[in-house]
Amino acid sequence: MNAQELIDTARTLVAGDKGLLAMDESNPTCNKRFARLGIPQTEEARRAYRELIVTTPGLGEFISGVILYDETIRQSRKDGSPFVKVITDAGIIPGIKVDAGAKDMAGHPGEKITEGLDGLRDRLAEYSQMGARFAKWRAVLAVGDGIPSRGCIEANAQALARYASLCQEAGLVPVVEPEVLMDGEHTLEQCFEVTEELLRMVFNHLYTQRVTLEGMILKPNMVLPGLTCPKQETVDEVADATVRCFLRAVPAAVPGVAFLSGGQSGELASARLNAMNVRFKSRLPWALAFSFARAIQQPALEIWQGEEARVPAAQQALLHRAKCNGAARRGEYTAAMERTSA
Ligand code: 13P
Repeated sequence: MNAQELIDTARTLVAGDKGLLAMDESNPTCNKRFARLGIPQTEEARRAYRELIVTTPGLGEFISGVILYDETIRQSRKDGSPFVKVITDAGIIPGIKVDAGAKDMAGHPGEKITEGLDGLRDRLAEYSQMGARFAKWRAVLAVGDGIPSRGCIEANAQALARYASLCQEAGLVPVVEPEVLMDGEHTLEQCFEVTEELLRMVFNHLYTQRVTLEGMILKPNMVLPGLTCPKQETVDEVADATVRCFLRAVPAAVPGVAFLSGGQSGELASARLNAMNVRFKSRLPWALAFSFARAIQQPALEIWQGEEARVPAAQQALLHRAKCNGAARRGEYTAAMERTSA
């Protein structure tokens, strides 16, 4: 591993006002999203959709890196140019999802453990050879009656740390994603407590596994009330709680925090990220950026609907969300930006 290269890549991923675009939905997840809109669930439809994304004119102005899936990193444009080349030519860094998904955890009803460590060293070598410069692994923690348990938090934190260590050995920047899910009635305070405990555990294990913090990116949830919690805090309250939690648990050596969107609407995700940067940016040790999938892609997918003729309009919608999040990084996002696009 060349530590300086890792550090440079990690810094580049969160430099300026750019962020990451996650387009690493597994085939079942991508198919589920296609099915809802009546789009055929075929390899060709998935390829055409990903071509739409990576060929969006101007995407590199707001997006520093894209996260691909195993099928996608092997695909090409219709004209034969490999996606990895298209992405790199656009000035964007290609990355890859390397976990094998969250599976039911033995002895822990209602909880999941992310799999994929077996054989990971060989897969990382192949992805690196294909041009990937960073990799992502997602752990999911549900909040509910008596969960998440200590066992689930610990097992997922250890898997994240072992994955991150293998990534750095292979010269790939680990994007470490511990996600506290929004589903449920839990309060913002409960999300705060779980997120703090989880982040502390993750960084303990990253330390134990000798991960270079300067050469990684954290991809966490924001601190939010559950989707069905009757009390929904304001944008500023969410921003305050999230930053307060992270100041306690995320070491200053980490160059950037790139949030997942987790099912928030595109507008709300931009507004909350914006509020954090407006209120705290000049006082924080790490960059506050984005690594959204749904909150960037959803409007584009809904416009596209699998129709070639709608590609330009869908690309415009994608670029708009990327631009809004770039503005949110500067603390310059406003609701008026949404009206301009409409
Ligand atoms: P969302 O932004 O849709 O939550 O996806 C981010 C991601 O990469 C999930 O692993």
